[in-house]
Amino acid sequence: MEQLIVQIAAATNTATLYPAKHPRVLQSIDHILSTLGSVLQERHDDSITFLVLGDELVVDQEVVRKSTLSQRQFVELLKQRGIERLTLAAGLDVEEAQQLISALATGETLESTPHVVLGKVQVNLDQEHDDEAPRELKSDLLEPVRDAFAKFRIDKNLPLGPMEQLVWGFIDSLSKTTQSILPLSRLKEHDEYTFVHSVNVSMLVLAQARSFGIQGTMLHAFGMAGLLHDIGKLMVPLSVLTKPGKLEGQEWAQMQSHTVQGAWYLAEMEGALPLSIAVAYEHHLRYDGQPNYPVLKISRVPNLASRMTSIGDAYDAMSTVRPYQQPLMRSAAFEILKKRAETFYDPLLVANFVRIVGLGAPSDPTPSERL
Ligand SMILES: [Fe+2]
Ligand SMILES: [Fe+2]
Repeated sequence: MEQLIVQIAAATNTATLYPAKHPRVLQSIDHILSTLGSVLQERHDDSITFLVLGDELVVDQEVVRKSTLSQRQFVELLKQRGIERLTLAAGLDVEEAQQLISALATGETLESTPHVVLGKVQVNLDQEHDDEAPRELKSDLLEPVRDAFAKFRIDKNLPLGPMEQLVWGFIDSLSKTTQSILPLSRLKEHDEYTFVHSVNVSMLVLAQARSFGIQGTMLHAFGMAGLLHDIGKLMVPLSVLTKPGKLEGQEWAQMQSHTVQGAWYLAEMEGALPLSIAVAYEHHLRYDGQPNYPVLKISRVPNLASRMTSIGDAYDAMSTVRPYQQPLMRSAAFEILKKRAETFYDPLLVANFVRIVGLGAPSDPTPSERL
């Protein structure tokens, strides 16, 4: 049975990297089918049911200790897809298994088939109204995360589950539109600014990653990293975070520490992905390796997700209305990004960013318009 879990997790990983009919994907599906056959034979049963209860995996009424990475991945995967019960029955064929693995990998909607029976928890995306407002983010996805940001200073708690669901929601809305993404606006408190900014950056990172063909769980990891990149800001004193004008000395050091503090917080958090930790730490590093913050002993080029995040980060900071800052027009923001290409930002990524964010913007906004 453990072997079966390992194989499902492995096949899902393979399916995020290769097309559905790729020999490696087909081979991993073969493995699942043959292992399922032997598991059912061993158990003298005609089906096996996986149940997700909180963080626990229950197989045929027995709790499986989540000791292996594959088991944890498997539980996470089912949780992310809103699946709380998965039954695989004797007679499962290649096509059904392919559908299952591809839906687990890409987040496509998955329906039960004769030999794959799903029990879903509440579906978070309000599919009914998608045609009317495909780009509008549903508030039932946004609100729990907005709340978590607002209460973080009190309870220091970050619920990963709702954040993961929210990023799947972004992916879903991005896949439904060819128009450019609409940044959220409206802000009240400063932590609310961090929330709105994080949501925007997450979408800007997703749009970039998607344009390079990154998909499925890998795409989701990029979106999560964007959403969590500034989480350390919630640990910077409000007096520093809300101070208008330039920060100096100790205050500037405290502000800069949001990178390291965020990375530490995520590193200690169960379920946070290494990519999120790296991006929290690296998103203010420069592309050319010149010192910025945090200061590194040996300079290095930040990883791809961090480079995408730093572009989305700068663009959103330039284009959002803050109490003490007028937004820059879209084209002025693009110009600044282009000027800083090769030094602060990856030039290839800047060119791509301007291309994809510029889409759907036939003309520049009039001076009175805000981005
Ligand atoms: Fe930051
Ligand atoms: Fe940021």
